[in-house]
Amino acid sequence: MRLDVFTQVPHAFAWMTEQRPVAAVLGTELELRLFNYRDTTPLRSGQVDDDPYGGGAGMVLRVDVVAAALDAVYGDDREHRVVALTPQGRQLTQAVVEELASEPALTLLSSRFEGFDERIVTHLASDAISIGPYVLSGGELPAMVLLDAIARRLPGALAEGSGEHESFSTELEGGIEYPHYTRPAEFRGWTVPEVLLSGDHGRIDTWRREQSRERSAT
Ligand SMILES: C[S@@+](CC[C@H](N)C(=O)[O-])C[C@H]1O[C@@H](n2cnc3c(N)ncnc32)[C@H](O)[C@@H]1O
Repeated sequence: MRLDVFTQVPHAFAWMTEQRPVAAVLGTELELRLFNYRDTTPLRSGQVDDDPYGGGAGMVLRVDVVAAALDAVYGDDREHRVVALTPQGRQLTQAVVEELASEPALTLLSSRFEGFDERIVTHLASDAISIGPYVLSGGELPAMVLLDAIARRLPGALAEGSGEHESFSTELEGGIEYPHYTRPAEFRGWTVPEVLLSGDHGRIDTWRREQSRERSAT
């Protein structure tokens, strides 16, 4: 997949490229490109935003600036999905992640301050996605959330099998995962469920599925 992120803070992504899962798939399953609106803005002095029409606090990311950035990178080749990251968008779920992870190319648009000129969302983007019903200061963290969630669905991102029985997977019927335990088997009187120490993989599998269903129902 080719994933392009348009942002005013491209250097914020540096640490992610050094960590799994992104580091594991960079250069093979994932091509990550970071673009700064300031590099292609048609305005002077790197200006990318402006005062809101109608008044009010905060600056609004300009539509001509985002259009110029997209034109500079894609020209007329605009077949792939362009996602505007905004708290007003469709809420991100694992199903949305799976849908986006199957795309060959994807563009993420982030904003800051008061957000996007609405024409960016309606005319330049194909999708609007929110990572949750709360407001962050910029689209960089939402872009990183999507980048991480998508990267771990790409082949080779995770150790063999570790992504199969996760929360929200079809293997767990869309439910949340069963509990995990590791050594020591007893700590301060807190014990590990006996079934996990039994070595009986059939019983363990049944117990885990029951736990997942119970936890998902509450
Ligand atoms: C301070 S927010 C703008 C909030 C906007 N004025 C509103 O009330 O909906 C600035 C930018 O951060 C990003 N952002 C903040 N919260 C987000 C969320 N929950 N999901 C996705 N993007 C978010 C978006 O790119 C947004 O344009």
